[in-house]
Amino acid sequence: MDIFQKCLDYTDADDAKASGYYPYFRVIESESDSKVLMDGRELIMLGSNNYLGLTTHPHVRKRAHDALEKFGPSCTGSRLLNGNFSIHEELEQRLAAFVGKEATLVFSTGFQTNLGTISAIVGRHDNVVIDKDDHASIYDGCKLSYGKVSRFEHNNLVSLRKTLASLGSNAHGGTLVVVDGVFSMEGDVAPLPEMIEICKEFGARLMVDDAHASGVLGPRGEGTAAHFGVTDDVDLIMGTFSKSFASLGGFIAGDAKVIDYIRHNSRPFIFSAAMSPASVGACLGSLDVMESEPQHRERLWEITTRMQKGYRDLGFDLGTSETPVIPIILGDEMLVFAFWKRLLDEGIFVNPVRPPAVPAGRALLRTSYMASHTDEQMDYVLETFARIGKELGVVG
Ligand SMILES: Cc1ncc(COP(=O)(O)O)c(C=O)c1O
Repeated sequence: MDIFQKCLDYTDADDAKASGYYPYFRVIESESDSKVLMDGRELIMLGSNNYLGLTTHPHVRKRAHDALEKFGPSCTGSRLLNGNFSIHEELEQRLAAFVGKEATLVFSTGFQTNLGTISAIVGRHDNVVIDKDDHASIYDGCKLSYGKVSRFEHNNLVSLRKTLASLGSNAHGGTLVVVDGVFSMEGDVAPLPEMIEICKEFGARLMVDDAHASGVLGPRGEGTAAHFGVTDDVDLIMGTFSKSFASLGGFIAGDAKVIDYIRHNSRPFIFSAAMSPASVGACLGSLDVMESEPQHRERLWEITTRMQKGYRDLGFDLGTSETPVIPIILGDEMLVFAFWKRLLDEGIFVNPVRPPAVPAGRALLRTSYMASHTDEQMDYVLETFARIGKELGVVG
């Protein structure tokens, strides 16, 4: 059989396009901001992860520009051999101090960070235990490792304990538990203090993916561990630069010996080119801003509180979201696409999300907020959601 047969038989995307309900690969013709241009129309952007709105911050752009000018457009090599620039090391030192860990290592994407960390740490005799709703990159990091993978029910402490207990004693290997700090689709937060206690009871190490928490949670945006005041008890903190940092790349932070091991043993790190200078420059700029301009995070939380309350008062189901990731849970996939299309017609861009990205029966509209959204934009969003919600029979 031709290995391409599955491609020739694949019609899902064409079918969706023909029905007028194809939401993917929308072309954005402007910079990433609280409003964007699509098909020549201006839309309010409720579908990005630019939480602090730093993509348009002059200092962030200047540092990206300066790094490009000084170091050029590419490092043209792996950090291990020929692509290790002084700004990578500067960023790693700054990040370690920011999140409160001894050392960090930066990767070229967040996805690669999870692949490269989990596959380096979890060996043949080890266990890795993950939340069922963890990000795809955590799943794929587990696949790339040679360890035994177990899943527990989402944010369920009883299930975590049961799963760890079921692994029994293992004289030859250890256990890594990996959770998202803030879950990317439903915006709920992992109960880290309780998880830490359970991990300690079973001698397991804990890694937290802060893709949606960096810049957002914690007194200065340090992440989920700082939010709960448990930084010393979270063994590994992972973050991406593609969200609050307004850049591209990722980092892993932890004890110096552990980070050094990953640096020398992670194949996705070693056999891949270094993060580009402009991306590193943007991250350094964002760190400067996070440390010196708390107003962006404060504004983000003002908007988040207002929108959480606004949607709940209208009668929408937001699940247990507590963050700027606010899901409008509709359950039915067709309803999600109908609602998404009506919002697009009214000038609002959101992400329709269906299984397998969420569990069956929990299809939703993922909305997310940024510090640069205006009050007028948020008024219009709530009015429009109320109107369409009534039209489609979602709210009374
Ligand atoms: C929870 C989580 N982890 C990891 C990633 C991967 O990060 P990146 O897109 O920066 O590669 C994402 C991004 O979608 C994410 O949401």
